Amino acid sequence: MAEGRSSIVITVFSTTSGIGKTFVATNLAAGLAKDGNAVCLIDLDLQYGDVANYLKLQDAPTIADIPPTVPPHKVQNYIGEYRHGNVSFAVLPAPYRVEQSYTLDERRIISIINHLDKFNFIIVDTKAEFNDMNMAVMDISTIINFLCVADFVPAIKNLKSGYEAILRFGYDVNKVRPVLNRSDSQTLIDPDDVEVVLGKKFYHKISNDFKGASNSIRAGCPLILTDTNSRLKRDLYDLVGLYTNRKRKSESSGGGGIVSFFKKIWSR
Ligand SMILES: Nc1ncnc2c1ncn2[C@@H]1O[C@H](COP(=O)(O)OP(=O)(O)O)[C@@H](O)[C@H]1O
Ligand SMILES: [Mg+2]
Repeated sequence: MAEGRSSIVITVFSTTSGIGKTFVATNLAAGLAKDGNAVCLIDLDLQYGDVANYLKLQDAPTIADIPPTVPPHKVQNYIGEYRHGNVSFAVLPAPYRVEQSYTLDERRIISIINHLDKFNFIIVDTKAEFNDMNMAVMDISTIINFLCVADFVPAIKNLKSGYEAILRFGYDVNKVRPVLNRSDSQTLIDPDDVEVVLGKKFYHKISNDFKGASNSIRAGCPLILTDTNSRLKRDLYDLVGLYTNRKRKSESSGGGGIVSFFKKIWSR
């Protein structure tokens, strides 16, 4: 954990785009906030980020709107908010204009994240790429939520090479959590076989529900905060529970021991 930072940073990363990172990141932020945590959601897909669209926050100040002269410890005053009923969380959307992405570098972003100390959780949405920004944020992350889909062969190839790269780069195997999205989509590829290819069990599986996911995105409301009672919503909320110890996962299920992992982090 970075010096001076007490927040848990969860980065949602994948090696293929369009597989649900933003959907999962917005729901993680919403679910953690619903459970009473102070949460900040940051969109680091700096050119084509969708967080503002998925939350219908098109007027919120973006990460590029923070004047560079503002010291990192004062950035909290520049962050907008998403609110639904009595649940709210802070949001730093990606810039609205692609060229603004060039005004941001990883040192500034990491310094900002390290100073967001009023939040229990910082959720970072990313672009599917090993770039300097993503690597820097993965370095300081408590957990890398490595999102996977197993519904087409190139995606499996990418997730295997991406997972191997993450481990090659020296990240703790307990920090990298492969999560299978759209786990029960109509496909001939068995998730068990993907686990064999990956050499690791999925930490969690999220079911496939195109209608449920797209309706919530169209409404601008994370599925977790809607009145729907669907399996997808339960799967997402269970993932939140794994990160708050509301729901425990045993070592044998591939979780890598969330309880002992957090004990280790807090005791540092
Ligand atoms: N579990 C799911 N079931 C069905 N559709 C999903 C699921 N998760 C995400 N989607 C859909 O996949 C599409 C891409 O999701 P998105 O979060 O934008 O991907 P990424 O951020 O990885 O590019 C969206 O249309 C979303 O509705
Ligand atoms: Mg996205």
